Amino acid sequence: MTMRLSSLGRFLAVPLLLAAATARSAPMKTEVQQAPTRRGAAVAPFPPGPNIKWSHAPYEAGDCSLCHVRNDAKNPGPITMGINELCYSCHEEFQGIMARKVKHRPAVEACTNCHNPHNATEKKLLVADMVVLCTNCHKGIKEQMATAKVKHDALTTGERCANCHNPHAANVDRLLIQLPFDLCVNCHSKDGMVAADGRVMTNYKKWLAEHKVWHEPVRAKDCSACHRPHGSQNFRLLVAPYPATFYSPYDPKNYALCFGCHNDKVVSVPETTTLTGFRDGSRNLHYVHVHQERGRTCRACHEVHASNQDHHIREGVPYGPKGWVLKLNYTKLPTGGQCARTCHDTKSYNNRTLTSSSPQP
Ligand code: HEC
Ligand code: HEC
Ligand code: HEC
Ligand code: HEC
Ligand code: HEC
Ligand code: HEC
Ligand code: HEC
Ligand code: HEC
Ligand code: HEC
Repeated sequence: MTMRLSSLGRFLAVPLLLAAATARSAPMKTEVQQAPTRRGAAVAPFPPGPNIKWSHAPYEAGDCSLCHVRNDAKNPGPITMGINELCYSCHEEFQGIMARKVKHRPAVEACTNCHNPHNATEKKLLVADMVVLCTNCHKGIKEQMATAKVKHDALTTGERCANCHNPHAANVDRLLIQLPFDLCVNCHSKDGMVAADGRVMTNYKKWLAEHKVWHEPVRAKDCSACHRPHGSQNFRLLVAPYPATFYSPYDPKNYALCFGCHNDKVVSVPETTTLTGFRDGSRNLHYVHVHQERGRTCRACHEVHASNQDHHIREGVPYGPKGWVLKLNYTKLPTGGQCARTCHDTKSYNNRTLTSSSPQP
């Protein structure tokens, strides 16, 4: 992560900022239950029945000796080679797949951990519904999904876990089918996608293409620095609390997301000549706006993903239940900045001198 030299002086807590960012982006590792290898009787054929909707083509063909030593349905004997070797003998492409850098341990162990080689109730011959199958071993993910206040439909719609993971092997860490950033952005690339609370979400492919100033963690292509893909206790799947509303009473705990990386004193001290550029003389305008009973949240002024202005200042912000867009009309000035006739009359701030240049409100 790179820091611009000009911004270093502002943060007394720069080492803290970097430490927090690193700690958070350290990979998660949730509880996995090591299950005994599923083979032999555990994958014997099911007797035909209304629930047995899927049948493996070579089993359907009726010749047990395609895989077993005998073509005798009553006593086919053992299989002719190792399980995975047997599968590769027809599914040649899987030899290539299983040669990828990141391998899923149960697939290396035995393909029958997840597939019945004869027939099944589930498509792709899976021994159980995919999410149930995965979370039988991945207790940690099961727990996250069950307890999450905010759920992510990506886990339960379409290809479900396989929307993002390859259950066999992959070239990206965590068995991901693409780089995580590409996964998120490629799916969040439609206009009109709706979040669980009914709000229309941003088309990120378009937004990131049209807004060139990316917030540092977005530039590092790390959506997981702020979001939990499997579900979260926080608004918008965030890794830590952040207010859901335009106005919110000030409490540093509600901004744990931002203050996990940024120094909370940027907002919480009334007077400063170093901590923030958003000050008029020594009067901290972050404090003035945010540190109140009816404090403006960061979203009133900042675009958290990407923007077209310095300091991630937004051009407009959806205000009120109808989402009417309020123009901010921010102008960067050599000595500070100015906001024109939106929330209040035109006001400017001067962060180069210690004397106030604008009238007190
Ligand atoms: C596509 C390959 C394939 C075909 C075809 C196939 N089997 Fe199997 N079968 C397997 C595999 C793999 C196992 C698990 C072997 C192991 O764990 O060592 C197995 C296991 C079994 C078992 C359990 C054995 C035990 O140890 O209890 C039975 C019973 C069985 N098969 C019956 C059949 C019958 C009957 C047919 C033909 C109608 C058949 N299979 C066709 C691959 C196949
Ligand atoms: C004798 C050849 C043969 C062997 C051995 C074999 N398969 Fe298959 N398998 C097929 C054919 C043929 C199909 C159906 C055509 C297709 O979908 O590609 C198939 C399809 C599948 C499917 C997809 C089923 C679906 O509903 O789409 C899975 C999963 C599968 N095989 C798993 C395995 C596993 C696991 C093994 C090893 C235990 C194995 N196969 C061994 C020939 C074989
Ligand atoms: C951890 C569980 C798991 C293990 C172990 C596993 N698979 Fe699968 N496999 C899946 C899932 C889940 C799917 C369905 C993925 C999807 O729909 O994209 C699947 C799909 C398949 C398919 C169908 C692919 C298609 O495009 O239709 C084949 C063939 C297959 N697996 C073969 C294998 C072979 C060979 C092995 C052993 C090397 C193996 N699997 C081990 C979970 C597993
Ligand atoms: C039979 C148990 C079992 C099943 C079923 C299973 N897993 Fe796993 N999975 C494991 C084990 C064991 C590991 C290795 C954990 C470790 O390295 O400590 C693992 C690792 C992973 C990893 C991390 C890989 C890495 O390199 O960091 C992911 C992601 C994952 N599994 C996803 C899935 C998905 C998705 C499914 C369902 C399609 C699934 N698993 C089904 C046992 C299972
Ligand atoms: C929207 C994409 C997405 C979907 C869908 C998804 N995952 Fe993940 N998963 C990720 C990303 C990104 C990571 C790596 C970052 C992280 O660890 O949070 C990951 C990491 C993991 C890990 C390794 C880290 C850990 O917590 O141990 C496991 C295991 C896992 N996923 C299992 C699953 C299972 C099981 C499902 C289906 C119920 C699933 N995932 C669905 C994106 C996804
Ligand atoms: C397969 C498509 C898909 C992928 C991949 C995907 N998402 Fe989503 N995401 C959705 C859908 C559909 C919704 C809307 C329904 C919902 O809220 O869960 C959503 C909702 C969200 C929400 C809003 C949740 C709420 O209701 O407040 C966030 C935040 C989010 N996704 C972030 C991510 C991130 C970060 C990634 C990458 C790790 C990602 N998504 C990958 C489909 C996807
Ligand atoms: C620095 C932290 C941070 C990073 C990194 C981040 N987000 Fe967000 N994201 C947020 C916050 C905060 C919100 C809530 C914004 C609001 O309501 O004002 C949010 C909201 C969302 C939403 C739901 C609301 C909407 O309008 O779309 C989605 C989807 C989303 N982010 C996807 C992503 C994707 C994709 C990435 C990676 C390209 C990403 N985020 C990276 C902090 C972050
Ligand atoms: C994962 C760490 C991380 C999180 C979480 C995070 N940021 Fe940042 N942010 C950074 C880094 C690193 C920079 C770049 C350092 C710099 O430019 O001063 C930055 C820069 C900024 C800047 C621009 C600084 C400038 O003058 O150009 C603003 C504004 C900002 N962040 C606001 C926020 C807000 C608001 C939140 C919470 C919604 C937040 N950040 C959450 C890491 C983070
Ligand atoms: C009323 C508008 C407004 C609100 C609300 C606001 N900011 Fe800012 N912020 C600014 C402006 C303007 C700047 C640019 C100051 C300059 O000229 O250098 C800025 C700069 C920053 C910077 C860059 C370093 C600095 O302080 O100069 C960070 C980090 C930051 N804001 C974080 C936040 C966080 C976190 C929140 C919410 C807790 C927040 N801001 C709320 C207007 C706002």
